[in-house]
Amino acid sequence: MAQIPQDSGFDNTLSLASDGYQFVRKRQRELQSDIFETRLMLRKVICISGEEASKLFYDEELFERKGVTPGRVNKTLLGEGGVQGLDDEAHRWRKQMFMSMMTPARLKDMKNAMSRHWDDAAIKWETMRDDIVLLDEAEKVIARAVFEWTGVPLEEADVEERTADIAAMIEGAGAVGRDHWRGRSARDRTEKWISDIIEDVRKKKRQVPEGTALYIIANHRDLKGRLMDKGHAAVDLLNILRPTVAIGRFIVFAALALHEHPEMRRKLKAAGDDEIEHFVQEVRRFYPFFPFQMARVRKEFQWRGFTFPKGRKVMLDLHGTNRDPRSWKDPDEFRPERFQEWDESAYNLIPQGGGDHYRNHRCPGEWITIDLMKVAVRKLVSDMDYDIPEQDLEIDLSQMPTAPNSRFIIQNVRTSNLRLAPQH
Ligand code: HEM
Repeated sequence: MAQIPQDSGFDNTLSLASDGYQFVRKRQRELQSDIFETRLMLRKVICISGEEASKLFYDEELFERKGVTPGRVNKTLLGEGGVQGLDDEAHRWRKQMFMSMMTPARLKDMKNAMSRHWDDAAIKWETMRDDIVLLDEAEKVIARAVFEWTGVPLEEADVEERTADIAAMIEGAGAVGRDHWRGRSARDRTEKWISDIIEDVRKKKRQVPEGTALYIIANHRDLKGRLMDKGHAAVDLLNILRPTVAIGRFIVFAALALHEHPEMRRKLKAAGDDEIEHFVQEVRRFYPFFPFQMARVRKEFQWRGFTFPKGRKVMLDLHGTNRDPRSWKDPDEFRPERFQEWDESAYNLIPQGGGDHYRNHRCPGEWITIDLMKVAVRKLVSDMDYDIPEQDLEIDLSQMPTAPNSRFIIQNVRTSNLRLAPQH
């Protein structure tokens, strides 16, 4: 049996922090192998990428998730007791709870809420003399929309603070020092607030419409018929609020792509739904967001002549798979037209995980993500004009998650097109 090519150095945790999104790709090139073994936090980890690797990784007979997420990520980004760390029957049951929220009618409600809150915000942006930081503004728009959609009450006066807390959880995951601790305290504060709301719903002190995420999660029962622990329920409700707000980053990447390809902006003004979708898919493929996903080998197996021992951690390079030349021609070029011919494989475009939404750990919010990005792209190209001043638009690939350094500043917003458009 061949030995898996080995990364140099005793432990590469610090290199992961400095190489960021390029950690796997860089080593694959150095070792001339798309599979290699490294050591992170003193434990051996096999790193893989590409469509075939992603088919392997999402085979649940071979891999499990329990206990694989590092504690520091749980303390900030994910929380403890949520769907991510479950396996088998318990996972499928909890996942069904999420998928039951994604009906066509509910997805439409989400798009409408986003459209309405975007328009309200755009009219305010028009009166603002200061720079408008699109990442921060998009996150607030989405926060208003997703709180409304889930049924979680959010006073206008609290939008700024609650959104900042959610953004701190997202940014705290890959951070060290002060930003990490900000993420932790934001999570503690928000989990406590949400679990009190869940308790109020259970005690019927708060009415919430059936079909909303708050209603569904507060009343969800596990396989033994018990209500979820209220802390775990809060973690899963935050599993909707937090990543939806994170779509703000993809929206900023879409704005950046429109800025860098002005001809696409002109074309999209008159585009149909397919063209807008191809553009959105290319943004999700091209720009770096969620870098890797971890799992653990359930039982020993062989793949391509290499042994994967039971208990070994395996890291799938999500961003690297989206840029893999074996699946994508000229992968480092931004070309939405490639989606005219995409084979719709569940394993080559995996910014939100691969496999099946119901059975695997693939992100249940993928449709919401695509929908909200489409709404935002239409707004950016058709309903508003704006100026883009000189700024630092570089994307730092050692930051995870990353964004343009300036967070995308716009100025002098004009919404005359919006006022001419039919109102909802
Ligand atoms: C901002 C865009 C988003 C990105 C980049 C993203 C990315 C991901 C990734 C990479 C995973 C892990 C896949 C795996 O474990 O193999 C995931 C899982 C998950 N995402 Fe998203 N996501 C996004 C938006 C959303 C939205 C809008 C929601 C909810 C409405 C959501 C809810 C979840 C949940 C609950 C899981 C865990 C699923 C499971 O373990 O079965 N995400 N997401």
